[in-house]
Amino acid sequence: MRHLLSAADLSHAEAVDILDTAEAMAATQQRTIKKLPTLRGRTVVNLFFEDSTRTRISFEAAAKRLSADVINFSAKGSSVSKGESLKDTAQTLQAMGADGVVIRHQASGAPYRLAHAGWIDVPVLNAGDGTHQHPTQALLDAFTLRRHLHGGGAAAPTGTDLAGARVTIVGDVLHSRVARSDVDLLTTLGAQVTLVAPPTLLPVGMEGWPCTMRYDLDEAIAADAPDAVMMLRVQRERMSSAGGGFFPSPLEYHRRYGLDGARLRALPGHAVVMHPGPMNRGLEISAEAADSPRSVVVEQVANGVSVRMAVLYLLLAGEEGAGHAAPAAHA
Ligand code: CP
Repeated sequence: MRHLLSAADLSHAEAVDILDTAEAMAATQQRTIKKLPTLRGRTVVNLFFEDSTRTRISFEAAAKRLSADVINFSAKGSSVSKGESLKDTAQTLQAMGADGVVIRHQASGAPYRLAHAGWIDVPVLNAGDGTHQHPTQALLDAFTLRRHLHGGGAAAPTGTDLAGARVTIVGDVLHSRVARSDVDLLTTLGAQVTLVAPPTLLPVGMEGWPCTMRYDLDEAIAADAPDAVMMLRVQRERMSSAGGGFFPSPLEYHRRYGLDGARLRALPGHAVVMHPGPMNRGLEISAEAADSPRSVVVEQVANGVSVRMAVLYLLLAGEEGAGHAAPAAHA
C-alpha cells in the first residue's frame, strides 16, 4: 500500500491488518508516556482545503504521538486565495520536506490527482474528498464496530472481522463520502449493510452497491434488528452549493428519518448508535440518542487517533521505522 485513497482499495487482509495495528497503537496510548519514536525525523503535512475538526486534529495527534513533525496547512489564509493551484501548493510543501501528505478537499478526486499526477513523490492519505471517499473514517468505524462485536467495547482479538454484523446507515447518502466508504469497507469485512434514506437523498446508479436499500427507518429497524445504526449528517452546505433544496423539510426529515427516543428504544438491546460527526442535533439525531449510553460517538473520535497512527505507521515508517518501537502487531 503506497497511498490510502479509498476504502474500496483495501483488501480484507489489508483492512484487518490496519485494524490489528490500530489495536496495538491503542494499547500504547494506555501508557503514561504515549509517544512512540517510530516517525522521528519524518514530516507529515496536513493539507486541508475544507473545514474539519475531528479529522485534522486526529491526524495531527496521531502523527505527533509517532514523533513526526507536523505542518498544518489550511487553505483559508494561504496563497490558495490568490489563485495558487493544488500542484503548486503541493510542490511547495514537498520542497519544504514533506514525507507524507494528508489531504481534505472539496473536489472529489483531488487526492488521486495529488497521488498520481507526478507532482510529488510521497504517500498521500485521503482525509475526505467531496462526496467521494473518507477512508480513515470508515476504518475508525470498522474499528469501533469490531470492538463492540468482539471485545465488549474494549480491544478486539487480532484477526477478527465484521462477518455477520448488521449495520444500518441512515440519512443523506447522496452527499456522504462516509456512507460510500463505510459500504465499501464494512462489506469487505463481512458486514451486511442497509442504507435508509429518502429517495431524494440517494444517488443515482446505486444498483451495483453491495448493500440493501430501504426508504422507511421504522421498517428497517423492525426487519433488520441492526447491531449498529449509523446516522449521517445532513449536509446542507453541499445541497445549496449544488443548487438543490432541502427536501424533505427539516421537520419532516426528523420525523421520518431522525433517531429519536422512540426509535432508540426500538433498537435491539445490544445495538450501538454511531455518527461520524459533526452532528446536527434535532435533525438526524436527537439529543437523547446522541447522549444515550448506546452512543459510541465519542469512542469513534478516540479510536480515530489509533487508526490514523496505524495508517501513518504502515505508510510512512518503512523498514527503518518498523525496526524500532514497532507496535505489538508488527513486532
Ligand atoms: N467525521 C469527520 O470527518 O469530521 P470532521 O469534518 O470534523 O473532520
